[in-house]
Amino acid sequence: MLKPTEAMLYAGTLNAVTSDLLGRLEAKRRGSPSGQGLGDVASLLYRFALEGIASILFETRIGCLEPQVPPETQRFIDAIGCMFRDSVFVTALPAWTRPLLPFWDRYLRSWDTIFAFGKQLIDRRMEELAAQQERGQEASGYLSYLLACGHLTPTQVYGSVAELLLAGVDTTSNTLSWALYHLARDPQAQANLHREVTGVVGGQVPDVPHLAQMPLLKAIIKETLRLYPVVQVNSRVAVEKDIIVGGYLFPKGTLISFAHFTLSRDERSFPEPERFLPQRWLRAGAAPHHPFSSIPFGYGIRGCVGRRIAELEMHLALARVSGGVPGTRQHWSLCPGSRLATSSWLKGYSWLQVTSAPEKR
Ligand code: HEM
Repeated sequence: MLKPTEAMLYAGTLNAVTSDLLGRLEAKRRGSPSGQGLGDVASLLYRFALEGIASILFETRIGCLEPQVPPETQRFIDAIGCMFRDSVFVTALPAWTRPLLPFWDRYLRSWDTIFAFGKQLIDRRMEELAAQQERGQEASGYLSYLLACGHLTPTQVYGSVAELLLAGVDTTSNTLSWALYHLARDPQAQANLHREVTGVVGGQVPDVPHLAQMPLLKAIIKETLRLYPVVQVNSRVAVEKDIIVGGYLFPKGTLISFAHFTLSRDERSFPEPERFLPQRWLRAGAAPHHPFSSIPFGYGIRGCVGRRIAELEMHLALARVSGGVPGTRQHWSLCPGSRLATSSWLKGYSWLQVTSAPEKR
């Protein structure tokens, strides 16, 4: 896993991308018939997350948050969506259906588009790095690190980068969508968060040291991930020896699955498990729970490598969205008539609106 100190290096990059997100949200609000509707926030957050991870990996912007998304970026975004949709069919349907139904070919074509896009950006960045080296400049950035560490062949770098691009987008954007959804339903939590953020940063753009003083902000992300762990099941095989867990014997070779969704909604660990209660993660309001009762990023050597970047990105974005413009308090609410049940329902629907009012002192 990337160390917190290393992830901190990306705060400037992520803040620049967050500024563009705020710009898009404001433009959407102004452009809506009511002057308050935000339209499909989940899809915008998806583009935000893609822009964030791409700008870290390639140290370049790919235009996901521009009013007109560049066509090749749009093709890449569409290919990811298509690949995920078709993955359900290609996994469930038997192999003999592949020549007969459209899913398999389309699934492969989507992957080709994803890899080609990643390869093009990597190749461009490699050329820049080579030119920098020739000029005697020191190379920086994640990609130069991957290339210079010497453990990976160029083909493996292409594969790893495509994996990071995919693993780092739906994960953070769905979590942010759900966090905003719950805040929109909970005016008190929203007001408390606004107070916390503005109390720490005033009108400044938050940076890593500020985040350390925002326990509620972090609790909101933890609580959102408890309710909606983006990876619902993790599995491990006990390869070395028989093991005993909770008094049950698992012989060597057993596949053990960890059902995040079920475990993090277990009322023995989290009373009123279906409720969004960020205060359960704060020292003052916390009831003790087992440290493994909610581990949305997995654990151990194969735990999420992007955890620190993901947390930084989500914390910065939520802090900026909640802080609003100095002197103005923004109120987030669900559009009347919104009926939402799962994260995929959030996408494609206009469900969030925002009103602004002068801040009461
Ligand atoms: C809310 C955000 C995220 C959550 C909840 C999440 C969760 C997870 C989980 C549960 C795993 C499997 C861990 C295990 O098997 O123990 C995982 C793996 C992984 N994650 Fe994340 N992730 C998030 C964001 C990200 C981001 C932003 C990136 C990229 C920068 C990323 C890259 C990866 C990669 C590459 C793996 C595979 C690691 C391996 O197999 O060794 N994730 N993630």
